[in-house]
Amino acid sequence: MNPPPLEHYSPQEFFDREGSHLLVAGQTLMELAEQCGSTPLYVYSKRAIHDRVAALKATLPARVHLHYAVKANPMQEVIDCVAAQVHGLDVSSGRELEAALQSGMQAQNISFAGPGKAVWELKAAITAGITLNVESEVEFARILGLCEETGKSARVALRINPDFELRASGIKTSGGPQPFGVDAEAAPELLEKILASGVDFAGFHIFSGSQVLQARTLIEAHEKTFALARQLADHCRVPVQSLNIGGGFGIPYFPGDAPLEVAPVMEHLEGLLTEYQDTFADTEIILELGRYLVGEAGLYLTRVTDRKVSRGTTYLVTNGGLHHHLAASGNFGQALRRNYPITIGNRLGVRTETVTVVGPLCTPLDVLAKEMDLPKAEIGDLLVVFQSGAYGYSASPQEFLSHPRPLQVLV
Ligand SMILES: Cc1ncc(COP(=O)(O)O)c(C=O)c1O
Repeated sequence: MNPPPLEHYSPQEFFDREGSHLLVAGQTLMELAEQCGSTPLYVYSKRAIHDRVAALKATLPARVHLHYAVKANPMQEVIDCVAAQVHGLDVSSGRELEAALQSGMQAQNISFAGPGKAVWELKAAITAGITLNVESEVEFARILGLCEETGKSARVALRINPDFELRASGIKTSGGPQPFGVDAEAAPELLEKILASGVDFAGFHIFSGSQVLQARTLIEAHEKTFALARQLADHCRVPVQSLNIGGGFGIPYFPGDAPLEVAPVMEHLEGLLTEYQDTFADTEIILELGRYLVGEAGLYLTRVTDRKVSRGTTYLVTNGGLHHHLAASGNFGQALRRNYPITIGNRLGVRTETVTVVGPLCTPLDVLAKEMDLPKAEIGDLLVVFQSGAYGYSASPQEFLSHPRPLQVLV
């Protein structure tokens, strides 16, 4: 299946065009690749990140704070760029914590989520004074032990595995059995221990899933999240300082995907704030987004190194592929493979041909585009994969087949 014309995708809002060239920050991709010295290359646009965050903040209810989930793109310059515009950062490892602190974000606005945090990570979090989202009884006991050992107090929020699941989300993190957080029904017991322990209790973290494109799915999730949070708040003797309602706003990748309509989600959130005014009047509400903030701001560029025809199929071979961009290649063949939005960045508007684009790995899984209509490319041209700013560079098996790593640049 061929993707719709690129006009369908919002990258067109972010990236300009001059003749047959796609531009980022006023430069052609050829120029950028030359300046950087080699390809493959991830290019992230400061303006695209800035515009996306600013547009979202303009719709955000005043009482809702926006946090960035660093795992979406942990490049230090990207974190710094987003951190300058958001209220807080969420990290999921000790290295992400270091990067978040390095950005200058205040410790009180950084939280750490994820099962199986290592002792050194818990210690670093307690020392830095960030909020730890507690994922289990064992983890809480470990935190208490470290508080005793270091003589410091910890700030903890309780991560809840809600009793509902997120319909129509790309990746579910809630409902049924989950490794994330404590089951809603078991939460009151652990909450009691947390409150009795004397640690600084921050509140609740309830994140139900990722890559949601339908406003009504998010609306439903927020509705259920607030209802559950109120039930849990009834078990608290202390005020709930913060309620983190997670991330999950999606971006369109494939034919038929329509961009998420954010306005109705925000209007509904505003309504929930009024409805739950009694319980959460003084509670900080946190929206913790990753993909939506940076996903559309990134391009993956890889150079065409060969063209060949095999039994009627034209192949373009590129110097990058699955090892740099796992999602665009179809996640090791585990999902039904669909083409990401792709073009030839120096041949816009040129007559198209149907091609299959493969990378340099000696495996049939290394496919960037299958039977896709692309502008006719020559050896040396730059293939562009849009929607590559989130879960791209850092979510790919770069050691697989021992090829060089791609570069990354924020311009
Ligand atoms: C705890 C937590 N917060 C936020 C996010 C960000 O999700 P998204 O990129 O879908 O907004 C994730 C993603 O897995 C997560 O695990």
